[in-house]
Amino acid sequence: MINIPSSEITPEHGYLSRRAFLKTLAIVSAGAVLAACSVKPRATAAPGGTPPHAGAATDELGDALTPYESITHYNNFYEFSTDKEQVAPLSANFKASPWKVEVGGLVKNPRTYDIDDLRKNFTQEERIYRHRCVEAWSMVMPWVGFPLAKLLAEVEPTSEAKFVRFETLYDPGQFPGQNDGYYPWPYAEGLRLDEAMNDLALLVTGLYGKDLPPQDGAPLRLAVPWKYGFKSIKSVVKIDLVDVMPVSLWMAAGPNEYGFYANVNPAVDHPRWSQATERRIGELSRRKSLMFNGYAEQVAHLYDGMDLRLNY
Ligand code: MTE
Repeated sequence: MINIPSSEITPEHGYLSRRAFLKTLAIVSAGAVLAACSVKPRATAAPGGTPPHAGAATDELGDALTPYESITHYNNFYEFSTDKEQVAPLSANFKASPWKVEVGGLVKNPRTYDIDDLRKNFTQEERIYRHRCVEAWSMVMPWVGFPLAKLLAEVEPTSEAKFVRFETLYDPGQFPGQNDGYYPWPYAEGLRLDEAMNDLALLVTGLYGKDLPPQDGAPLRLAVPWKYGFKSIKSVVKIDLVDVMPVSLWMAAGPNEYGFYANVNPAVDHPRWSQATERRIGELSRRKSLMFNGYAEQVAHLYDGMDLRLNY
């Protein structure tokens, strides 16, 4: 199904062990990582500089960060290409500035944000998240961003708001893939409001302490680490609070294969492959997939009483 070139297979690095996940947040300001919670900060490159040495830290399970090179050269971003290795070269000249994000719908204070204001006005944190694609590969990402809940609190959803709908930029001039009529562009995704308010749901502006590169969704993407990667929509320009469940691009393109919830669940297979195991990029053997991608403690309660086979 998926072919990984040998360049992806990196030797194991020695790494510093870190304290438990939510205790390990480092506050990022103007491109520099400041220590938080007395955790030794990882060296962070200045914008435009070389990324820090891969494998310098781990997630809360002790797994090494995926090297910057792999995170930025093995990408799903169909607006550029369906070939993971072509996304980086094709996105090299993507214009991620100036950039506006319109937040509206069922809210008391609709607003259009400039990306620079989102970076300045919301405290940027580093969060190390596992990233599990529905195709059964995974990585560990040192994202920089801020909780979606903080943005939602500012616009104040009304009592009718039940879901959040996200939309990627529509610009076939910059996104060659959008000239292909096969997919219902623009890329759209959605979360239930309580999922969106969960502290793990992150609006991402950076990676490895630098601005987010185009291939990973510059200048603003979502990261919902307990869900398959396709929920983590890239290059977001529109966020709407709505009262009906949004139809995502993948729900429209393949309704029998891709549902609204898309929670990582090793017990529920994709119709064409198993989800019981995954291949961590950089590792040779497969590892067991974890329920909710290892974040059950933080999110399982959101699905109490739901049949996760029906709500795939
Ligand atoms: N967002 C947009 N706009 N277009 C896409 O093709 N691909 C999704 C998601 N977000 C995608 C997207 C999929 S399938 C995955 S696995 C992740 O982005 C990949 O993120 P990465 O390339 O940063 O690893």
